[in-house]
Amino acid sequence: MKSAKHHTSIPHSRPTLGHEEIQFVSEVIGSGHIAQGAIVSRFEQALAKNAGIKGAVACSSGTSALHLTLLAMEIRSGDEVIFPSYVCSALLNAVRYVGATPVLAEINPYTWNIDPEDVKKRLTHRTKAIIVPHLFGLAADLNQLISLGVPVIEDCAQAVGATCDGKNVGSLGFAAIFSFYATKVITTGEGGMVLSNSQDLLNRIRDLREYDQKSTLRVRYNYKMTDIQASMGLAQLDRLQSFIRKRRSIAQQYYKGFDSLPFQLPLRDDGHIYYRYVIILEEDSGPQILALAKKGIECARPVYMPLHRYLKTRGYRRTEQIWKKSLSIPIYPSLTDDDVNRIIDSVVEVLGELIS
Ligand SMILES: Cc1ncc(COP(=O)(O)O)c(C=O)c1O
Repeated sequence: MKSAKHHTSIPHSRPTLGHEEIQFVSEVIGSGHIAQGAIVSRFEQALAKNAGIKGAVACSSGTSALHLTLLAMEIRSGDEVIFPSYVCSALLNAVRYVGATPVLAEINPYTWNIDPEDVKKRLTHRTKAIIVPHLFGLAADLNQLISLGVPVIEDCAQAVGATCDGKNVGSLGFAAIFSFYATKVITTGEGGMVLSNSQDLLNRIRDLREYDQKSTLRVRYNYKMTDIQASMGLAQLDRLQSFIRKRRSIAQQYYKGFDSLPFQLPLRDDGHIYYRYVIILEEDSGPQILALAKKGIECARPVYMPLHRYLKTRGYRRTEQIWKKSLSIPIYPSLTDDDVNRIIDSVVEVLGELIS
């Protein structure tokens, strides 16, 4: 008979929260100042310092951070913005908020990040920005993209703490956006941030972020973060390095455990933080996601639907293939050794059936 604990499901994602977050949040609530204030500024400075960037502006989400960045860059109707099809729809929404035209690019089949060669082919005189997600925690290769001469916005929503040739993600492009949604590497429940070395850009974003006490009637937003959220963010940032160590250690156990499986595993890279651990099968991963759910292991396709499908655009063969065959298995710091072993055993059993 199976032990009782095997009846509880292991979720695909889960935030890692503890007494540190409770203490920091309690202090803010006790202080009586809960809206955007000094703690938000502290969180901004701490994240900017962590990435080696001059300044930051906290926002209500990664989407609002990207929206304000595009607005502050004066990107509008008639302009084109390039980003990969293989990413969540938040990017498509933000580009549409400002009325610009989304131009989707293919991915590299090994890194699953945006393919610079494909970006090059899609450049026009209207291209005003390239948004580069560091997907699943692996830094995209930015050198070639930056050399194209179009401003690069790094999307670090899945990659806080990741590095590329020893350099922090978020420190190489014109601006970088982050998300602190509940399932992200560090969380504030909902939340986001823009980092940049351009004080001018940050000042414009700060102005657009709130509407009150302004002498002109420009369209502005309420996209602020609260001190309650920022206090949780500070506690999480204190724990970032230990979170990353744990993620990397679980990833190493997975590489070892899946050694015998003939499937594509995440690219091994010292700067990878393994926000997701994705396995690419040789066929549609739907049946395996269901089979693992029956064993109490919640898996998913890590991108819900590639953007070219929403836009009904043809092409994107690589994106289509990777998306269909992708299987993301749980990886986060609060997994216990028992959880990790159970995940490895179940994945090997279910995927093993594909090759027997
Ligand atoms: C790569 C990427 N960019 C942007 C976002 C948007 O962030 P948020 O959900 O905080 O608006 C996400 C969130 O899922 C993401 O994964």
